[in-house]
Amino acid sequence: MQKIIAVLEGDGIGPEIMREALKVLKAVEEKHGHQFTLAFAPFGAGAYFSEGSPFPEQTKAVCDRADAILKGPVGLAVERMNEIPQEFRPEVGAILPLRKRYDTYANYRPVRLPKALAGFSPLKPEIIGEGIDILMIRELVGGIYFGKKTEGPATGMQYAEDECIYTDAQVRRVAVVAFDEARKRQCKMINIHKANVLATSRFWNAVVEEVAKLYPDVPYQSVLVDSAAYQLVIKPAMFNGVCLLENMMGDILTDQAGGVIGSLGLMPSACVGPEKSYFEPAHGSAPDIAGQNIANPYSMIGSVALMFDKSLNLPSEAKEIWDALFAVFERGYTTSELSSGYAPDKILSTSAFGDMVVAIIKE
Ligand code: IPM
Ligand code: MN
Repeated sequence: MQKIIAVLEGDGIGPEIMREALKVLKAVEEKHGHQFTLAFAPFGAGAYFSEGSPFPEQTKAVCDRADAILKGPVGLAVERMNEIPQEFRPEVGAILPLRKRYDTYANYRPVRLPKALAGFSPLKPEIIGEGIDILMIRELVGGIYFGKKTEGPATGMQYAEDECIYTDAQVRRVAVVAFDEARKRQCKMINIHKANVLATSRFWNAVVEEVAKLYPDVPYQSVLVDSAAYQLVIKPAMFNGVCLLENMMGDILTDQAGGVIGSLGLMPSACVGPEKSYFEPAHGSAPDIAGQNIANPYSMIGSVALMFDKSLNLPSEAKEIWDALFAVFERGYTTSELSSGYAPDKILSTSAFGDMVVAIIKE
């Protein structure tokens, strides 16, 4: 297969975890005789300082031409971020515009912790039980993050407003993705919402329940988001299956899920649109540990696995990467942020982790 892949390394630990992800990409490319052309482009806070924009026109052109996009985390230390005007900060000036440009409405965030790795979780092993295997699907281009924002004085009052809108089409298409995934995995689909308060959630549920009728074979549940936040810590395995969430609830609960399995470093993601998709870790750029070769590259490498699956339609290559990632841990190795109780010679640097994944793929 011949494909062009845009590479947006991002800021902070972005370049170093991307380096490992590209090593793995290269290993799979060589092993299976594919040909990937990499197109690097600036993106994020660094791009603002070097190019005057966090999502420069030249980067848009590179992404437009690419078959898929790999994106590292963005953002610098607070003092540096404070030098950037609000509209040029990477969150609102780069990430949201990237999502909007390719209409990446379905954000896949797999949350996986096999029983054997229960020790990574801050929760007791009996709470992890048989292991965690949740696919969180977050709606990524609608709701309050994309609604109109107003601020100002009105009738003598200071105020701020964020509009939250969901249309029928927006809810339907992501619900279809969630039900399709649940059908494929033969698992339940859990819809998470706040319908006891929000009109958008009542509407969301009505559409999701209409879609549910087309999937009589998929067990369906719905859970209020506050209760879901509680249950995710008390009985996380009850969510094993597919969970569907709107944009903001999905943002919050996927970070919490990262905490449940022990680290946001274990949270890759796919942002899937109708024509193009991009792949990024669910975490930030950790400027405090950047350049030290200690960041966990799992989430970036896992994002490559998701790219093989969702953009390149090569699920067996994707599985090889997943298996290699878990094999590193199963062989007794770990990364710095997950190293409590591990002997120092078992703690891998960023580059050693990537090397080991590559070695396993080549075995
Ligand atoms: C994420 C991030 C982004 C979001 C930020 C950086 C805009 O937290 O991908 O989860 O809120 O979606
Ligand atoms: Mn987030």
